[in-house]
Amino acid sequence: MKDKLFIFDTTLRDGEQSPGASMTKEEKLRVAKALERMGVDIIEAGFPIASVGDFEAVQAVAKAVTESTVCGLARAVDKDIDRAAEALKGANSARIHTFIATSPIHMKMKLRMEPDQVVEQAVRAVKRARQHTDNVEFSPEDAGRSEIDFLCRIIEAVIAAGARTINIPDTVGYAMPHQFGELVRQLIERVPNAGKAVFSVHCHNDLGLAVANSLSAVMNGARQVECTINGLGERAGNAALEEIVMAVRTRQDVFPCNVDLDSTHIVACSRLVSSITGFAVQPNKAIVGANAFAHESGIHQDGVLKSRETYEIMRAQDVGWSANRMVLGKHSGRNAFRTRLKELGIDFTAEEELNAAFVRFKELADKKHEIYDEDLQALVTDTNLATENERIKLVYSKVCSETGETPEAAVTLWIDGVEKQAVARGDGPVDATFKAIESIVQGGANLLLYSVNAITSGTDSQGEVTVRVEKAGRIVNGQGADTDIVIASAKAYIHALNKMLAPAERAHPQL
Ligand code: KIV
Ligand code: ZN
Repeated sequence: MKDKLFIFDTTLRDGEQSPGASMTKEEKLRVAKALERMGVDIIEAGFPIASVGDFEAVQAVAKAVTESTVCGLARAVDKDIDRAAEALKGANSARIHTFIATSPIHMKMKLRMEPDQVVEQAVRAVKRARQHTDNVEFSPEDAGRSEIDFLCRIIEAVIAAGARTINIPDTVGYAMPHQFGELVRQLIERVPNAGKAVFSVHCHNDLGLAVANSLSAVMNGARQVECTINGLGERAGNAALEEIVMAVRTRQDVFPCNVDLDSTHIVACSRLVSSITGFAVQPNKAIVGANAFAHESGIHQDGVLKSRETYEIMRAQDVGWSANRMVLGKHSGRNAFRTRLKELGIDFTAEEELNAAFVRFKELADKKHEIYDEDLQALVTDTNLATENERIKLVYSKVCSETGETPEAAVTLWIDGVEKQAVARGDGPVDATFKAIESIVQGGANLLLYSVNAITSGTDSQGEVTVRVEKAGRIVNGQGADTDIVIASAKAYIHALNKMLAPAERAHPQL
């Protein structure tokens, strides 16, 4: 019997720290339910002290999720720990994850504390967390650049204080696989009470080594990996859950442990996170990229047709790519719609939400004969965007684009109950539409990114647009989907502007 490797997903916490990737409570709930359905062991749902919104999101996830442990992050201070405990009240299984930096540079420059004070604060924090739950995780932040003797000292002290998971973060993505594996091996060997805790790793991808470092640690005794869907996360992201899971599962000849989750939900989860955050998945991304199982060259195709194993090391179906993804059409009923959404991990709690999505489905089916899973996910995201607290709504848009002429757009918006119109010219129909919107809203936000992606193949595909805008240092993403890409663009821009109008006070755990 092999050891179990615990999968700790932090898409909703570290993933959400990625600029522009913030999610609403409803979106977090949808991702959490999809992770639970996949069988993720621990879901880090957020940083409850950060804001009222974060607190409520963790609270909602803690209530809705029963199969996975729900975790809340807290700095090593009483107010964070108590707030996390409050958010997690009512969870079937709860964990408090507390952390403090241990590298010389972080202790001196960020914390302005002596090492002895750091140990004392860590121990106090773990004891405080233990007053709320037996399930306490401790992370020495920036462990990848910390001194090993100091790590041994603090880890021994927090285990004695009651921590049952010790997470070793490579916070800045600096480690090399052989070094990081060796660090974990030595910590487990040298800390006298190491046997009382599960050792975990949390790797960032600044040098593209997050997955390699995590797997090296697993080879050296780590039995929990912290990771995110699609590798979402601060800067270059975290270790990608799908890559960790499939590496361990595919190379059972190498790994001394195994994961226990249903990998056939991976693609749906990846698609959900990408459509909610607007962070597109690159086509050649391992496991979940559109080309991950595509065999382009004739030699490869011939080989795969004769025997799949010639070039394929995994089966596409095992991660949720199905051969026939056309699911619904114009004549599909409400039941079929609801059932397929459930299979995709989308479960509406309120009947009105299902009704709103079904109306949009019928509208889409009138324009587009074949509705694929990807269409359904975009449609649900789009429906949710349209039912969030919107101060600005698109009422009408028209573009005129003609060879040799400057495109012109006319837009009508509803802003706080009042309809306003504008006409503008631009370098293209999208530019003209954005200028017309901006001339009404006058928000002064800078457009940092505009991207459009065809959701499925064919010219009748919906275009899924992501925009990223910035104002006074705050960055938000907006998404929109429609078979008309100018309308999809207008929706995405308005979604971002609505997010900009929402209050933004929120603390970052590591600053
Ligand atoms: O990267 C990091 O060090 C973290 C900790 C809070 C675990 O995210
Ligand atoms: Zn992190």
